[in-house]
Amino acid sequence: MLAIIGGSGLTKLSTLAVAHREVVRTPYGEPSSALLYGQIAGRDAVFLARHGHGHTIPPHRVNYRANLWALKNRGATAVLAVASVGGIRTTGAGELVVPHQLVDYTHSRETTFFEGGDQQVVHVDFTHPYTPELRAKCLAAGAAAGILLTDGGVYGAVQGPRLETAAEVDRLERDGVTLVGMTGMPEAALARELDLPYAAICVVVNHAAGRGDSAAAISMEGIARVLQTGMGNVRRLLDHVAPRI
Ligand code: HPA
Repeated sequence: MLAIIGGSGLTKLSTLAVAHREVVRTPYGEPSSALLYGQIAGRDAVFLARHGHGHTIPPHRVNYRANLWALKNRGATAVLAVASVGGIRTTGAGELVVPHQLVDYTHSRETTFFEGGDQQVVHVDFTHPYTPELRAKCLAAGAAAGILLTDGGVYGAVQGPRLETAAEVDRLERDGVTLVGMTGMPEAALARELDLPYAAICVVVNHAAGRGDSAAAISMEGIARVLQTGMGNVRRLLDHVAPRI
């Protein structure tokens, strides 16, 4: 079953015919929202709103462990994460990017299921943080549906909730980061620890701080506008991805 974690601008999935919802309890506490089960393009799917259905949970307070554990426990076999990002080298507002790499700048978050104690120490391989086969399915779905997707990007996961300074964005760029967002980690690593295939679809909603039309400041009205159209395209894309999972 395909799982979709929706971020800002995607707290509901209009394409998901919801059959039922379930509040899941986990050993790690409560997930961000109830799980919504239904079908997308005739395939079973489960949806979780990363920031809660009312968008009240900031990125650093998301219970990533509970979210991933709940999805795995209820039968998810692949996770597609939808996230809005700022573009550093990617300039087109509304562009959809399927990143291939990430750099983690977050801190003070619960980053692992392997906390030691009675458990063996485990170090998962994370060379390729996004599952190549799942990325390929997204890209193929985009091509078949005529939805323009950028193949590859380096996602820089920052702590937030504030946006970056221009100098921080310069540093990210020197590190090779092309997209900046606040929720990509530890989500991707936790999926790997649970052996869940994971890929991200990023919607570029603004130029990163100090760049392009964000040279003076980042416009929240601008973000809201781009988010709407971008997520419309994501919904369309999901209709074409679901049958490939
Ligand atoms: N920075 C960090 N996270 C974001 C941004 C940004 O510019 N835009 C959307 N999420």
